[in-house]
Amino acid sequence: MYETITSPISYGGISLKNRVIFAPTSMGLRGEDLTARLGRIAAGGCAMIIIGDVPVLPHAFVPSLYTEKGRAFYRALADAVHREGCLLCAQLHQSDANIRAMGKYLPGVLTGRISKEALRPLLNQQVGPYITNLPQKKIRKITESFGTAAELALQAGFDMIQVHGDRMCGSFSSSVFNHRTDCYGGSAENRARFAVEAVSAIRRRLPDIPIDYKLAVRREAPHYGNAGVLEEELPVFVPLLEAAGVTSFHVTLANHGALTDTIPPKNHPAFGAEGCFLPLCDRVRALTALPICGVGGLTDPDFVEKQLRRRRVDCVAMSRQLIADPDWPRKAAEGRTGEIRRCVRCNKACLGGMMAHQGVHCIYEKEEIL
Ligand SMILES: Cc1cc2nc3c(=O)[nH]c(=O)nc-3n(C[C@H](O)[C@H](O)[C@H](O)COP(=O)(O)O)c2cc1C
Ligand code: SF4
Repeated sequence: MYETITSPISYGGISLKNRVIFAPTSMGLRGEDLTARLGRIAAGGCAMIIIGDVPVLPHAFVPSLYTEKGRAFYRALADAVHREGCLLCAQLHQSDANIRAMGKYLPGVLTGRISKEALRPLLNQQVGPYITNLPQKKIRKITESFGTAAELALQAGFDMIQVHGDRMCGSFSSSVFNHRTDCYGGSAENRARFAVEAVSAIRRRLPDIPIDYKLAVRREAPHYGNAGVLEEELPVFVPLLEAAGVTSFHVTLANHGALTDTIPPKNHPAFGAEGCFLPLCDRVRALTALPICGVGGLTDPDFVEKQLRRRRVDCVAMSRQLIADPDWPRKAAEGRTGEIRRCVRCNKACLGGMMAHQGVHCIYEKEEIL
């Protein structure tokens, strides 16, 4: 019934057992809790899990690829996921938050004068000056570190690398934030240079590794997303990224705006429908023969099978649906679709839990302790 969902594929050179990927999702959990949760998602039958936001430089607050302790954590995670026949992908990222500017708002946050909702636009205002003034030497250090981090990720048991095309790659790509006048700013080619150098650094060190690129697309009229690649500039970015060594594209809406645009609730004015970001995949499909993974509001097996069969996308990534029911892939494969706990895109316990620093959960959790 769902032959395409359940069929294997070479996704940019890596063999996936089926077409379902757990989208990069910062779970707000640590250590064994995170390993157990992701192990549970792997046991539900998805082909690969993407670990969101793995820093490319040493980092004090999240497991770092640069410490033995951090690598041991990732190794344990990889073992847990591999035991379920699932692969593990590291989403490599560099934050574009200006730490110094963040310090300025800290007293306001601590005293409650600045709410978390108010903090986000304030920090976004700092991205432009930060990106525009970043010294070239620092830029080269960061882009080079994508290569180092990718090597370390493989040593730590990851099977694939995804370059996070939002965050710093995305803010360099966007004329909203990037007002540089050197070779990293101005034309679309120049604004693509940061991302191209990051991908090239990985490709130089690891000639055979598949490299997925989270292609964050922004649009005007109406305006959605601030970082990332403007829809009209995709014909410049996609071939450059492909030539640098990207082997597949994970296509979604760009961020640095409201979180509810990239993680849209069902009542979102533009992105409330099933498969809300697939029109962006269509734009990319016209520009490359590389495999494409779609993401965003994918919950219905019939709908997903149809998109895959039409080759609108080659794989589908799900975040909230696999949080709501990790067994979606297994239930679809066994024709038990009536038993799937469908994500209703309420954002209450997943995004809500993340924002409240209580970890990512789901309204269905009372029914099954995940
Ligand atoms: C709680 C939560 C955390 C997320 N963390 C990340 C992340 O770390 N990196 C990333 O690229 N996307 C992140 N996302 C976005 C998802 O990968 C995905 O693009 C988005 O949720 C839309 O897909 P969905 O409708 O299947 O949830 C997160 C989403 C949620 C709900
Ligand atoms: S809390 Fe709501 S939006 Fe989040 S995973 Fe559960 S059903 Fe989906």
